[in-house]
Parts: sequence; structure tokens; C-alpha cells
Amino acid sequence: MYSYREVPGLGFLAANAFVIHAAQLVVVDTGLGLPDRDFVASLAAVIDPADVAWIWLTHPDRDHTGGLFALLGAAPKARIVTTFVGAGIMSTERPLPLDRVYLLNPGQSLDVGDRLLTGFRPPLFDNPATVGILDISNGVCLSSDCFGAPVASAELATAEDAAAVTPAELRAAQLLWATVDSPWVHAVDPAKFADSFTPLRDFGPSAVLSTHLPPVTSDSAALFETMLEAPQASAFTGPDQAALEAMLRQFEPA
Ligand SMILES: [Fe+2]
Ligand SMILES: [Fe+2]
Repeated sequence: MYSYREVPGLGFLAANAFVIHAAQLVVVDTGLGLPDRDFVASLAAVIDPADVAWIWLTHPDRDHTGGLFALLGAAPKARIVTTFVGAGIMSTERPLPLDRVYLLNPGQSLDVGDRLLTGFRPPLFDNPATVGILDISNGVCLSSDCFGAPVASAELATAEDAAAVTPAELRAAQLLWATVDSPWVHAVDPAKFADSFTPLRDFGPSAVLSTHLPPVTSDSAALFETMLEAPQASAFTGPDQAALEAMLRQFEPA
């Protein structure tokens, strides 16, 4: 399910959630929590929310948890897949019902009836609870924030395929996002960072589904090549107070 948010100065950032149509239905992340979004209603256009068996929270950042508690209400049998740290982070705002939590670490698998979904740690992440998904039955990788990119328009952010963005634009935007979302990337040993892509490269994904990019259905090798440059990319510095005040003055009535 596609959603997006405009990020001032950066562009339009997808905020996707996914349904895995396994024997036991899996919803991956639950979207933005803005007042004008109704995650359960959006989900109901695709499946009956009551049938959801698993809510896999790739990490408990607010752009991934918007519809979580509404979905728990609409899907009485659903359990939340997260980590110990993920459940802990959630407990600082609104605790998860622990009898509905299923703790899963990278490297462990969840049996959803007709397939195993294996958790993995994406090479780039902004939250210590991050666990992506490898679906060995079809080769699909769900990478959470990793490989995301702000793009030039809402249409591109909600495109059916990331190929709608030109390769050069995609490369620049992915490197920008890597430095925004994972600023620690500048402090890592580039060789060790490159090694962290090996499991994913060996998996050879048939598609890479990021929460912050339209689906990548071809050429995952290009994604990896781009990301290897992240440690050397320009560090991101956000607008400061002077920039905010200049921006606000533009909105003042003359
Ligand atoms: Fe995040
Ligand atoms: Fe995110």
C-alpha cells in the first residue's frame, strides 16, 4: 500500500506498507499516523483486516506504526512480530500487549503456513530494532528503511516500480537518504560496510521492497553498487533555525 510524505527541501518520500499473501496473512508495517490517514481502511481495500495473522513491524519508528493499534483492534487474532528492543521502544509510548507479541531476531524465521519468512538486518537502518524480511519462496526482500530515496514528485513516490526514476536520479537520492537516515554510515570502515551486503547479494533478491521507495523489480546489483558509496557521500546537515525563519517569512502575509 503506497503512501508518501513531502519532506521540505528533500522531495517526496514513499511510506509503504505491504501485505504478504501467505497462508497466514502478514502485514508489514502500518504506515503514517497522520490524522488524514486511515490505515485499516486502506488495508480493507486489499484484504479483510480481520484475517490478518501477523503484523511484522520492521522497526517502531512513527512512520511505520501509524495504524498499529487500530489494526490490533480490527485483527483480533493478529500478533506483532518485533524484537525485544522494538517492544521496549514501543513501551515508552503505548505498551504492546505482550500476549500478542512474537519476538524474532535477525536470522530467525517465522512459519506463516506455506513459507518461512526469515528476518535479516538490513545494511542501513535508523533504529536498533530493525529487522527486514527475506521470503525464500519467491526471492523478495523487504528492506525496511534501507534503499529508500526521496523523489521529485508524489507520482514518482507512488510509482509501481522504482524504474520510473532515472538511474542517475535514483542513485543520488538513495545516497542522500542513506546519509539522512543512517548518518553513522560516515563512521564505518568501507570494507566492513561492503561486507555487510554480502548476505543480501548472495540471496539475489528477485525484488527489493523498501518502505521508502517504489518496488525495485530488476537490477538489485545497481542498488548495492550505489550503497557502497554511502560512507564517502557528503554528510547531510539539515536546515538550521535561520533557514527555518527564512522559510517562515515566505509564508507571512505582505
Ligand atoms: Fe526509520
Ligand atoms: Fe522509515
